[in-house]
Amino acid sequence: MSVYEMILVEQQGRVGLVRLNRPRALNALSYALMNEVLHALEAFDRDDQIGAMVLTGNEKVFAAGADIKEMMDLTPVDMLKQDLIAPFDRLGKLRKPLIAAVAGWCLGGGNELALTCDMIVAAESARFGQPEINLGVIPGAGGTQRLTRAVGKALAMEMVLNNRTLNAQEALQFGLVNRVVPDERYLDEALALAAEIAARAPLAVRLGKEMVNRAFETSLSDGLRAERRAFHFLFASQDQREGMQAFSEKRAPNWKGE
Ligand code: CAA
Repeated sequence: MSVYEMILVEQQGRVGLVRLNRPRALNALSYALMNEVLHALEAFDRDDQIGAMVLTGNEKVFAAGADIKEMMDLTPVDMLKQDLIAPFDRLGKLRKPLIAAVAGWCLGGGNELALTCDMIVAAESARFGQPEINLGVIPGAGGTQRLTRAVGKALAMEMVLNNRTLNAQEALQFGLVNRVVPDERYLDEALALAAEIAARAPLAVRLGKEMVNRAFETSLSDGLRAERRAFHFLFASQDQREGMQAFSEKRAPNWKGE
């Protein structure tokens, strides 16, 4: 699969960019769309020329959630067999940093998709919410788990039980997003952030991401032990030598990713 129908894919330097492109359905995350996203991002993740990735929608909508029309007549057995949520799990396992650039609606599965990313850059127009309660269901792709870890119990309860939506400034205040910028700059800002990270020592970036994510999965003592092993491991890399040598010689390091 390299001809995509519902996404646009491009490479800008060492940054891979994927745009959700199903505007008439407000980028509703059908199974086919999610599989295209997964395919494109996993390809970037394997590509040595790529150091970081950006996932975005358009200026009106990041994504309005899972595709309700596709889901509405499914039985639990259909759900189990198709495993519509599986792509979200695989996106959570990408090794390189993935930044969501969000403008407009970021709802339901759309918000869950943004939450599987490592950072979120929001436009002033961004609106975040979990409206599944209006459909008689609950979030199924991390909205009760990743969202709670991001914003805490009090707010997650309101969002999941009562469709409380957050504007961009609230999302910043509650720790859901990294930064809020004017609408005309949200994608450029996300691409610039991705380019900065993509220019850094690749192995350290990879292990840094893995270890921060580990903090959500483990006890403090296990996390600290894993962090220490990763830290020690990096002393086997050429980039550790190069980085510390460059510091002592007062010059910029030349990273090799080895
Ligand atoms: N699934 C399928 N189609 C959707 C959709 C969705 N999640 N969201 C919007 N659309 C479609 C609409 O049906 C409409 O299509 P038609 O023109 O063919 O009727 C088109 O996109 C435009 O939508 P609206 O006319 O509703 O646009 P609006 O500007 O009036 O409202 C909105 C925008 C408030 C985002 C509204 O579309 C909306 O509430 N969408 C649904 C949001 C939602 O409930 N998301 C959760 C989905 S469930 C989920 O995500 C489960 C999970 O955890 C994995």
